[in-house]
Amino acid sequence: MTLLRVRDVTKQFITRGQGGFLAPKAPFTAVDRVSFDVELGETLAVVGESGSGKSTTARIAARLLDPTSGTLEFEDQDITRATGKQLARFRNDVQVVFQDPFSSLNPRYTVERIVTAPLAYQGISPKGGGRAFSKELMERVGLNPDHSTRYPSQFSGGQAQRIGIARALAVGPKLVICDEAVSALDVSIQAQILELLVRLQRESGFSYIFIAHDLAVVRQIAQRVAVMNKGRIVELGSRDQVFDRPQDEYTKTLLAAVPRINPEWDRRRRLREQERMQSR
Ligand SMILES: Nc1ncnc2c1ncn2[C@@H]1O[C@H](COP(=O)(O)OP(=O)(O)O)[C@@H](O)[C@H]1O
Ligand SMILES: [Mg+2]
Repeated sequence: MTLLRVRDVTKQFITRGQGGFLAPKAPFTAVDRVSFDVELGETLAVVGESGSGKSTTARIAARLLDPTSGTLEFEDQDITRATGKQLARFRNDVQVVFQDPFSSLNPRYTVERIVTAPLAYQGISPKGGGRAFSKELMERVGLNPDHSTRYPSQFSGGQAQRIGIARALAVGPKLVICDEAVSALDVSIQAQILELLVRLQRESGFSYIFIAHDLAVVRQIAQRVAVMNKGRIVELGSRDQVFDRPQDEYTKTLLAAVPRINPEWDRRRRLREQERMQSR
Protein backbone atom coordinates (compact mmCIF):
# COMPACT_ATOMS: atom_id res chain seq x y z
CA MET A 1 0.00 0.00 0.00
CA THR A 2 1.30 3.43 -0.91
CA LEU A 3 1.49 5.75 2.07
CA LEU A 4 2.96 8.88 0.49
CA ARG A 5 2.91 9.95 -3.16
CA VAL A 6 5.14 12.82 -4.20
CA ARG A 7 4.48 14.01 -7.75
CA ASP A 8 6.45 16.50 -9.85
CA VAL A 9 7.44 18.53 -6.84
CA THR A 10 9.50 21.61 -7.58
CA LYS A 11 10.84 24.16 -5.12
CA GLN A 12 12.25 27.47 -6.17
CA PHE A 13 13.91 29.89 -3.82
CA ILE A 14 14.24 33.51 -4.78
CA THR A 15 17.85 34.38 -4.11
CA ARG A 16 20.45 36.87 -5.23
CA GLY A 17 22.83 35.21 -7.64
CA GLN A 18 26.58 35.60 -7.66
CA GLY A 19 27.60 39.22 -7.32
CA GLY A 20 26.37 39.79 -3.79
CA PHE A 21 23.58 42.10 -2.71
CA LEU A 22 23.71 44.09 -5.95
CA ALA A 23 22.95 41.03 -8.05
CA PRO A 24 19.36 40.80 -9.30
CA LYS A 25 17.07 38.39 -7.51
CA ALA A 26 16.51 35.23 -9.48
CA PRO A 27 14.66 31.99 -8.80
CA PHE A 28 16.91 29.08 -7.92
CA THR A 29 15.48 25.58 -8.40
CA ALA A 30 16.49 23.55 -5.34
CA VAL A 31 14.13 20.65 -6.12
CA ASP A 32 13.23 19.93 -9.72
CA ARG A 33 10.15 17.85 -10.66
CA VAL A 34 10.76 15.17 -8.05
CA SER A 35 8.41 12.16 -7.90
CA PHE A 36 8.50 9.12 -5.63
CA ASP A 37 6.26 6.89 -3.54
CA VAL A 38 6.76 5.64 -0.01
CA GLU A 39 5.17 2.26 0.62
CA LEU A 40 3.76 1.32 4.00
CA GLY A 41 6.47 -0.17 6.22
CA GLU A 42 9.40 0.40 3.84
CA THR A 43 12.58 2.42 4.15
CA LEU A 44 13.25 4.66 1.19
CA ALA A 45 16.67 6.27 1.29
CA VAL A 46 17.44 9.55 -0.40
CA VAL A 47 21.12 10.03 -1.14
CA GLY A 48 23.16 12.70 -2.85
CA GLU A 49 25.85 15.24 -2.24
CA SER A 50 25.40 18.24 -0.01
CA GLY A 51 23.20 20.80 -1.76
CA SER A 52 21.45 18.26 -3.99
CA GLY A 53 18.04 19.09 -2.50
CA LYS A 54 17.54 16.26 -0.01
CA SER A 55 16.52 18.37 2.99
CA THR A 56 14.28 20.58 0.90
CA THR A 57 12.53 17.45 -0.41
CA ALA A 58 12.21 16.15 3.17
CA ARG A 59 10.74 19.41 4.42
CA ILE A 60 8.23 19.47 1.61
CA ALA A 61 7.29 15.83 2.26
CA ALA A 62 6.62 16.76 5.91
CA ARG A 63 4.79 19.93 4.81
CA LEU A 64 7.19 22.08 6.77
CA LEU A 65 7.72 23.87 3.46
CA ASP A 66 5.28 24.42 0.60
CA PRO A 67 6.31 23.27 -2.89
CA THR A 68 6.31 25.82 -5.72
CA SER A 69 4.47 23.23 -7.80
CA GLY A 70 3.60 19.55 -7.68
CA THR A 71 1.43 17.49 -5.38
CA LEU A 72 1.57 15.39 -2.23
CA GLU A 73 -0.85 12.60 -1.42
CA PHE A 74 -0.94 10.82 1.91
CA GLU A 75 -3.12 7.74 2.26
CA ASP A 76 -4.78 8.66 -1.06
CA GLN A 77 -5.72 12.16 0.14
CA ASP A 78 -4.34 15.25 -1.55
CA ILE A 79 -2.58 17.13 1.23
CA THR A 80 -0.63 19.62 -0.93
CA ARG A 81 -2.67 22.53 0.37
CA ALA A 82 -4.34 20.90 3.37
CA THR A 83 -5.05 23.16 6.33
CA GLY A 84 -6.72 22.93 9.73
CA LYS A 85 -7.60 19.52 11.06
CA GLN A 86 -6.41 17.67 7.97
CA LEU A 87 -2.97 19.29 8.19
CA ALA A 88 -2.82 18.68 11.94
CA ARG A 89 -3.57 14.99 11.39
CA PHE A 90 -0.91 14.80 8.68
CA ARG A 91 1.66 16.52 10.91
CA ASN A 92 0.89 13.92 13.54
CA ASP A 93 1.30 11.02 11.12
CA VAL A 94 4.58 12.31 9.71
CA GLN A 95 7.44 13.02 12.10
CA VAL A 96 10.96 14.29 11.41
CA VAL A 97 14.23 13.45 13.15
CA PHE A 98 16.94 16.01 12.38
CA GLN A 99 20.72 15.80 12.19
CA ASP A 100 21.67 17.77 15.27
CA PRO A 101 19.80 16.40 18.27
CA PHE A 102 20.84 19.21 20.60
CA SER A 103 19.60 22.05 18.44
CA SER A 104 16.27 20.27 17.92
CA LEU A 105 15.63 19.62 21.64
CA ASN A 106 14.58 22.49 23.89
CA PRO A 107 17.44 22.81 26.42
CA ARG A 108 15.09 24.14 29.10
CA TYR A 109 12.75 21.13 28.99
CA THR A 110 13.22 17.81 30.75
CA VAL A 111 13.09 14.67 28.63
CA GLU A 112 9.65 13.98 30.05
CA ARG A 113 8.38 17.33 28.84
CA ILE A 114 10.11 17.00 25.45
CA VAL A 115 8.58 13.63 24.62
CA THR A 116 5.11 14.49 25.91
CA ALA A 117 5.01 17.92 24.23
CA PRO A 118 3.68 16.58 20.89
CA LEU A 119 0.72 15.12 22.80
CA ALA A 120 0.26 18.22 24.93
CA TYR A 121 -0.09 20.37 21.77
CA GLN A 122 -3.05 18.23 20.83
CA GLY A 123 -4.55 18.39 24.30
CA ILE A 124 -4.05 14.66 24.82
CA SER A 125 -2.94 13.45 28.23
CA PRO A 126 -1.16 10.10 27.94
CA LYS A 127 -2.59 7.04 29.60
CA GLY A 128 -1.05 6.53 33.03
CA GLY A 129 0.25 10.13 33.10
CA GLY A 130 3.23 11.88 31.52
CA ARG A 131 5.82 10.34 33.81
CA ALA A 132 4.88 6.73 33.09
CA PHE A 133 4.43 7.48 29.38
CA SER A 134 7.85 9.10 29.03
CA LYS A 135 9.55 6.32 30.98
CA GLU A 136 8.01 3.72 28.70
CA LEU A 137 9.14 5.66 25.62
CA MET A 138 12.65 6.03 27.03
CA GLU A 139 12.84 2.31 27.55
CA ARG A 140 11.73 1.69 23.98
CA VAL A 141 14.59 3.79 22.61
CA GLY A 142 17.17 2.29 24.97
CA LEU A 143 17.51 5.11 27.49
CA ASN A 144 17.46 4.77 31.25
CA PRO A 145 13.85 5.59 32.23
CA ASP A 146 15.07 7.00 35.55
CA HIS A 147 16.62 9.87 33.58
CA SER A 148 13.28 11.29 32.44
CA THR A 149 13.70 14.38 34.63
CA ARG A 150 17.10 15.23 33.14
CA TYR A 151 17.81 17.94 30.56
CA PRO A 152 19.24 17.41 27.04
CA SER A 153 22.67 18.78 27.99
CA GLN A 154 23.05 15.89 30.45
CA PHE A 155 23.08 13.36 27.61
CA SER A 156 25.67 12.35 25.00
CA GLY A 157 25.05 12.98 21.29
CA GLY A 158 23.84 9.44 20.68
CA GLN A 159 21.54 9.55 23.72
CA ALA A 160 20.18 12.94 22.65
CA GLN A 161 19.36 11.49 19.25
CA ARG A 162 17.47 8.71 21.03
CA ILE A 163 15.42 11.42 22.76
CA GLY A 164 14.67 12.96 19.36
CA ILE A 165 13.54 9.55 18.14
CA ALA A 166 11.40 9.03 21.26
CA ARG A 167 9.70 12.37 20.65
CA ALA A 168 8.99 11.39 17.04
CA LEU A 169 7.44 8.10 18.20
CA ALA A 170 5.31 9.63 20.96
CA VAL A 171 2.39 10.35 18.63
CA GLY A 172 2.48 7.00 16.84
CA PRO A 173 3.57 8.21 13.37
CA LYS A 174 3.06 6.34 10.11
CA LEU A 175 6.08 7.92 8.45
CA VAL A 176 9.31 9.01 10.10
CA ILE A 177 11.64 11.20 8.06
CA CYS A 178 15.26 10.97 9.23
CA ASP A 179 17.24 13.86 7.76
CA GLU A 180 20.90 12.93 8.26
CA ALA A 181 19.82 11.61 11.67
CA VAL A 182 23.03 9.64 12.21
CA SER A 183 25.42 11.77 10.16
CA ALA A 184 26.83 13.75 13.09
CA LEU A 185 27.48 10.69 15.25
CA ASP A 186 30.63 8.56 15.66
CA VAL A 187 30.65 5.43 13.53
CA SER A 188 30.11 3.07 16.49
CA ILE A 189 27.20 5.19 17.76
CA GLN A 190 25.81 5.39 14.22
CA ALA A 191 25.59 1.62 14.11
CA GLN A 192 23.69 1.53 17.41
CA ILE A 193 21.20 4.17 16.30
CA LEU A 194 20.68 2.40 12.97
CA GLU A 195 19.94 -0.83 14.81
CA LEU A 196 17.48 1.05 17.02
CA LEU A 197 15.73 2.55 13.98
CA VAL A 198 15.42 -0.88 12.38
CA ARG A 199 14.06 -2.44 15.58
CA LEU A 200 11.50 0.32 16.10
CA GLN A 201 10.26 -0.10 12.55
CA ARG A 202 9.97 -3.85 13.04
CA GLU A 203 7.96 -3.27 16.22
CA SER A 204 5.66 -0.55 14.89
CA GLY A 205 5.52 -1.01 11.12
CA PHE A 206 5.93 2.62 10.09
CA SER A 207 7.84 3.81 7.02
CA TYR A 208 11.07 5.78 6.84
CA ILE A 209 12.38 8.32 4.43
CA PHE A 210 16.02 8.00 5.35
CA ILE A 211 18.18 10.84 4.10
CA ALA A 212 21.95 10.49 4.14
CA HIS A 213 24.99 11.42 2.14
CA ASP A 214 26.85 8.36 3.44
CA LEU A 215 26.15 5.44 1.14
CA ALA A 216 27.55 2.86 3.54
CA VAL A 217 24.86 3.82 6.05
CA VAL A 218 22.12 3.72 3.44
CA ARG A 219 23.12 0.28 2.31
CA GLN A 220 22.50 -1.03 5.83
CA ILE A 221 19.00 0.30 6.26
CA ALA A 222 17.18 0.97 2.97
CA GLN A 223 15.05 -1.29 0.81
CA ARG A 224 14.87 1.30 -1.96
CA VAL A 225 17.16 4.17 -2.82
CA ALA A 226 16.60 7.46 -4.62
CA VAL A 227 19.69 9.28 -5.84
CA MET A 228 19.49 13.07 -6.08
CA ASN A 229 21.75 15.34 -8.08
CA LYS A 230 21.15 19.07 -8.52
CA GLY A 231 17.57 18.90 -7.36
CA ARG A 232 16.57 15.92 -9.47
CA ILE A 233 16.12 12.24 -8.78
CA VAL A 234 18.51 10.70 -11.27
CA GLU A 235 17.99 7.10 -10.21
CA LEU A 236 15.43 5.24 -8.10
CA GLY A 237 15.42 1.52 -7.49
CA SER A 238 15.86 -1.32 -5.06
CA ARG A 239 18.95 -1.15 -2.89
CA ASP A 240 20.67 -3.93 -4.83
CA GLN A 241 19.81 -2.39 -8.18
CA VAL A 242 21.23 0.97 -7.22
CA PHE A 243 24.33 -0.34 -5.44
CA ASP A 244 25.21 -3.29 -7.65
CA ARG A 245 23.81 -2.30 -11.04
CA PRO A 246 23.64 1.51 -11.13
CA GLN A 247 22.35 2.88 -14.44
CA ASP A 248 23.03 6.55 -13.99
CA GLU A 249 26.50 8.04 -14.47
CA TYR A 250 26.18 10.24 -11.40
CA THR A 251 25.24 7.24 -9.22
CA LYS A 252 28.31 5.40 -10.52
CA THR A 253 30.54 8.34 -9.58
CA LEU A 254 28.95 8.56 -6.15
CA LEU A 255 29.47 4.83 -5.54
CA ALA A 256 33.03 4.90 -6.85
CA ALA A 257 33.84 7.64 -4.34
CA VAL A 258 32.73 5.64 -1.29
CA PRO A 259 35.78 3.46 -0.57
CA ARG A 260 38.09 6.36 -1.30
CA ILE A 261 36.28 8.52 1.22
CA ASN A 262 36.71 6.10 4.07
CA PRO A 263 37.96 2.53 3.54
CA GLU A 264 37.92 1.93 7.30
CA TRP A 265 34.15 2.54 7.52
CA ASP A 266 33.56 0.16 4.67
CA ARG A 267 35.67 -2.50 6.35
CA ARG A 268 33.78 -2.10 9.63
CA ARG A 269 30.45 -2.24 7.83
CA ARG A 270 31.41 -5.53 6.19
CA LEU A 271 32.48 -6.92 9.56
CA ARG A 272 29.20 -5.85 11.14
CA GLU A 273 27.27 -7.44 8.31
CA GLN A 274 29.21 -10.67 8.72
CA GLU A 275 28.53 -10.66 12.45
CA ARG A 276 24.85 -10.04 11.83
CA MET A 277 24.64 -12.90 9.36
CA GLN A 278 26.47 -15.23 11.76
CA SER A 279 24.22 -14.34 14.69
CA ARG A 280 21.10 -15.32 12.76
N1 LIG B 1 15.62 28.67 2.43
C1 LIG B 1 16.44 28.64 1.37
N2 LIG B 1 16.68 29.75 0.64
C2 LIG B 1 17.51 29.72 -0.42
N3 LIG B 1 18.16 28.61 -0.85
C3 LIG B 1 17.98 27.49 -0.15
C4 LIG B 1 17.12 27.42 1.00
N4 LIG B 1 17.13 26.16 1.49
C5 LIG B 1 17.96 25.47 0.68
N5 LIG B 1 18.47 26.24 -0.29
C6 LIG B 1 19.40 25.82 -1.36
O1 LIG B 1 18.81 24.73 -2.02
C7 LIG B 1 19.82 23.76 -2.36
C8 LIG B 1 19.44 22.42 -1.76
O2 LIG B 1 19.57 22.49 -0.36
P1 LIG B 1 19.22 21.28 0.60
O3 LIG B 1 17.86 20.79 0.27
O4 LIG B 1 19.48 21.71 1.98
O5 LIG B 1 20.30 20.20 0.12
P2 LIG B 1 20.88 18.93 0.89
O6 LIG B 1 20.00 18.62 2.05
O7 LIG B 1 20.90 17.85 -0.16
O8 LIG B 1 22.26 19.31 1.31
C9 LIG B 1 21.13 24.32 -1.86
O9 LIG B 1 21.79 24.95 -2.93
C10 LIG B 1 20.71 25.31 -0.80
O10 LIG B 1 21.65 26.35 -0.69
MG1 LIG C 1 20.46 18.41 4.11
